[in-house]
Amino acid sequence: MVPVHVSIIMDGNGRWAQQRHMPRSFGHKEGAESVRACIEASVEAGVKYLSLYTFSEENWNRPVEEVSGIMGLFRTVMAKERKNLKENGVRFRAIGNLSRLSKPILDDIAALEAYTADCDKLTLMVLFSYSGKWDIMQAVNRYRRDIADGKADADSDIDITGFEKYLSTAGIPDPDLLIRTGGELRISNYLLWQCAYSEFYFTDVLWPDFRKTEFRKALDSFENRQRRYGEIN
Ligand code: FPP
Repeated sequence: MVPVHVSIIMDGNGRWAQQRHMPRSFGHKEGAESVRACIEASVEAGVKYLSLYTFSEENWNRPVEEVSGIMGLFRTVMAKERKNLKENGVRFRAIGNLSRLSKPILDDIAALEAYTADCDKLTLMVLFSYSGKWDIMQAVNRYRRDIADGKADADSDIDITGFEKYLSTAGIPDPDLLIRTGGELRISNYLLWQCAYSEFYFTDVLWPDFRKTEFRKALDSFENRQRRYGEIN
């Protein structure tokens, strides 16, 4: 079976560049080519949602030059891939603590989301300024505000489905397959709630080397998993 939602922690750009005695920005740039390859491979395979951990809340603590380099690259990729996304039926969405982004980036995001709003082959979600704990906390706080505003019932407990409506991924099915490149075996404050039953695929391949063949290997691995969701069969 093809996973409906594939999510990727893209790691290893810096090391890839280091191995070539190049600046880290070189690795990020090459990593953007892997983004394009995985989008194409997703459309070809019939994946409906592809989410990418592009910039974490923690990444704000990197050196200023690296942060502004990633921001610049993000804007360049959005401008460059605009037509390509539309022609391939890819809907673009950005998810995360976007209030921390500058106005020009927010404008670019809004424009690309509007431009691709009616595309329905694949939804590409770029998780930007995102962290799993932030997501759960913002959901709690929005729920609290709804109670204060009389929009949510203060006297009855909220259930799982009710709470998920407050997460930034509301309406999007949970990832079936979570891929992490770059050799680390951790989830790094990513989609903590949403990955409750995801199948994990860890690979040593560094993100700039993770192209279509590697993506298909991950899909093949998913094909052989037995998902039991805590049940017997
Ligand atoms: C992780 O490698 C990668 C990032 C923090 C940035 C990812 C950004 C892109 C690929 C650019 C554009 C993307 C989109 C979706 C438009 P790392 O720097 O942590 O590598 P290291 O672990 O080797 O240091």
